[in-house]
Amino acid sequence: MDRKKELKIVYRPLEVSDLKLRTQWQNNPAISKNLGWQIRKGTTLKEAKKWFESYVNNENDKRYIIEVNGKPVGIVGLTDINPVDKNAMLYIIIGEDKYRGRGLGRKACEYIINFGFSKLKLHKIYLEVNSYNENAFRLYNKLGFVEEGRLKEQIKHDGKYYDEIYMGLFDTKNR
Ligand SMILES: CC(C)(COP(=O)(O)OP(=O)(O)OC[C@H]1O[C@@H](n2cnc3c(N)ncnc32)[C@H](O)[C@@H]1OP(=O)(O)O)[C@@H](O)C(=O)NCCC(=O)NCCS
Repeated sequence: MDRKKELKIVYRPLEVSDLKLRTQWQNNPAISKNLGWQIRKGTTLKEAKKWFESYVNNENDKRYIIEVNGKPVGIVGLTDINPVDKNAMLYIIIGEDKYRGRGLGRKACEYIINFGFSKLKLHKIYLEVNSYNENAFRLYNKLGFVEEGRLKEQIKHDGKYYDEIYMGLFDTKNR
């Protein structure tokens, strides 16, 4: 199978019925190790449902399920959308193991960056990445994100401390 062959991708808003799968993805150690401590501590469906109640009424948080041939395989979104300073934080998980490393993360990031800059007219999109998450760091570099700074030894992973890297991408047209 050609792992980079063209995938039919649809992005649709996150729904309450997606939370079960999302919780499974978040509790997969291959995924959670790369995320924030709130996910690394472990998450439950009950917590997710409680979170969703505030999420649906939050205009500053937009998350989309990535579907390939009608099957949910991940989530991409912009959180902490700040309409005053025109920035937001990028969030992405390719949840299904066999869909990682096939170009989907890159396409989904391009989709959400375009949404942020063209539709929301943001000036900046930023993100946080754990320093040992080399695949994500490489992807963000390829997308044009530039390292802005590091919180030193902010993340404890496998008994060692690692930096948390902040990266940013600008659309200079949106002032
Ligand atoms: C990080 C993540 C979003 C990347 O998505 P992906 O679909 O796996 O990545 P892609 O196939 O689009 O690859 C894009 C680029 O990332 C890098 N990359 C991704 N997977 C890689 C791998 N297994 N080995 C080496 N490089 C890799 C490459 O630079 C690649 O560019 P290329 O295709 O030109 O070689 C995805 O792996 C994921 O969800 N990981 C778990 C959760 C996570 O880390 N989220 C981000 C938190 S900051």
